Amino acid sequence: MRLFLLILILSFASSRATQIEILNNCTYTVWAAANPGGGKQLKQGETWTLNDVTGSGRIWGRTKCTFGSDGRGKCASGDCNGRLDCQVNGRAPNNLAEYSINQTNNADVFYVSVVEGFNIPMEFGAAASSSSSSNCSNSVSRCATDVKGACPMELRDPEGCNNPCTVFGNSQFCCTSGNICEPTSYSKFFKDLCQDAFTFPYDFDQRNSCPTGTDYKVVFCPASASMIIVYWGQNGDEGSLAQTCATGNYGIVNIAFLATFGNGQTPLINLAGHCDPTTNGCTGLSSDIKACQSKGIKVMLSIGGGAGSYNLSSAEDARVIADYLWNNFLGGQSDSRPLGDAVLDGIDFDIVGGTTMYWDELAKALIGYSQQRKVYLTAAPQCPFPDAWLGSALNTGLFDYVSVQFYNNAPCQYSDNADNLKSYWSQWILIPAGQIFLGLPASPEASGGGYVPPDVLSSKVLPFIKRFSKYGGVMLWSKYYDNGYSSAIKRNV
Ligand SMILES: *[C@@H]1O[C@H](CO)[C@@H](O)[C@H](O)[C@H]1NC(C)=O
Ligand SMILES: *[C@@H]1O[C@H](CO)[C@@H](O)[C@H](O)[C@H]1NC(C)=O
Ligand SMILES: *[C@@H]1O[C@H](CO)[C@@H](O)[C@H](O)[C@H]1NC(C)=O
Ligand SMILES: *[C@@H]1O[C@H](CO)[C@@H](O)[C@H](O)[C@H]1NC(C)=O
Repeated sequence: MRLFLLILILSFASSRATQIEILNNCTYTVWAAANPGGGKQLKQGETWTLNDVTGSGRIWGRTKCTFGSDGRGKCASGDCNGRLDCQVNGRAPNNLAEYSINQTNNADVFYVSVVEGFNIPMEFGAAASSSSSSNCSNSVSRCATDVKGACPMELRDPEGCNNPCTVFGNSQFCCTSGNICEPTSYSKFFKDLCQDAFTFPYDFDQRNSCPTGTDYKVVFCPASASMIIVYWGQNGDEGSLAQTCATGNYGIVNIAFLATFGNGQTPLINLAGHCDPTTNGCTGLSSDIKACQSKGIKVMLSIGGGAGSYNLSSAEDARVIADYLWNNFLGGQSDSRPLGDAVLDGIDFDIVGGTTMYWDELAKALIGYSQQRKVYLTAAPQCPFPDAWLGSALNTGLFDYVSVQFYNNAPCQYSDNADNLKSYWSQWILIPAGQIFLGLPASPEASGGGYVPPDVLSSKVLPFIKRFSKYGGVMLWSKYYDNGYSSAIKRNV
């Protein structure tokens, strides 16, 4: 009987209890705190796991603490009544990982909140090992940018960026009137930097949710997920696709271009001097594509380009092209696949010709195939906002990565200063897409304007654009012109 009970308890614990692992990935020591849960000093790389988490609670980080052997002392931020082992919430400014386990429909709700200000970059998400993480409505919330550096003067704090309620104490910021509160100029400041964080007391759209039973991970100072995207294919002297991926500089390579399609034309790729598609000579690229993918690099087919012949004549035409792309380059089947049997990761829209219509229909039709196998959608609009060709396609919200071409476009490209670039970037970063990339020429010869020298990019441009949480990295045109540029900027992207 006792053995039976023990087995029952063990199986209950292993299948139901929620775990939250807390990792300090900062180069400095963080005193992690949880209410309920207590507290623990974490040096760089150390973790602390909360077991059997139920109900609602919060996790945060404290900085510059000193504690005696009795566990009493103080911290410069996040202090909880001077105790290592927190029994109460921390003192602002501090950002929070907040959760409520097993709410409506057996789901957990969780998010990073900056309602009480910011002190340490943080990410809160489903643990990668959690089997149910694929069923989350949104599996990660982060505020991982340099909020402290960008903090408005009146909110500054030696250890972070304060919340306006603590500083001004009025009912608009503290939301004490009893009415529903609206965003304020300060909550909008936080939202610009941390678009998937909870930024004011009624920011309920921001909720992330996973099935109860999911385990979670809180990371202080998470990796920035940024990368460099490069175009390859328009010059036979730029090295092979496999060599391009072997540089280790790129996260995505766009094969450029499928230059002829739509309006009844027979689709045709153009890869300049690399291979001749008219004699089926490009199928050998399959092994290069697979070599890239084995390194974790995504390989996309870019459609369009500056010199192509393409034009969607109707919504039906868009669906026909989507079907062609699926069967010939993605997860479908065809006996005439131009790049052989390798399955590309998705389709990149580089559209500067034909009509401005039906590109949204093409995006919708392609995403339809994602049920069978994930199809990434990326795009490279011109920097004037909104883009004439791709504006409505981008408004579908279906694009994972959008690389805005800040070159060949005088009104918005860099020229002596980055004022115009920054002002257009601030518009682009708000579009409904996964991540936004800064598209640049890889050398002065690569375009008719817009080149940003690597040192200027790293010191004057990236510090500004990286503050936005949807910043994804830099896109370069193209591999042929990239003779050292990606290597020079890689560390700062
Ligand atoms: C969640 O709560 C419901 C009751 O509201 C309970 O029946 C269920 O067992 C709980 N689920 C977990 C995983 O604890
Ligand atoms: C996730 O969703 C799939 C399909 O909707 C379902 O079969 C599976 O049981 C779910 N997994 C969890 C852990 O909820
Ligand atoms: C920790 O930070 C380093 C450096 O930024 C990064 O490479 C690594 O992926 C991070 N780890 C996690 C779990 O975020
Ligand atoms: C695109 O195709 C439509 C329909 O055939 C045609 O009317 C239009 O002139 C074409 N536009 C371009 C720019 O080729």
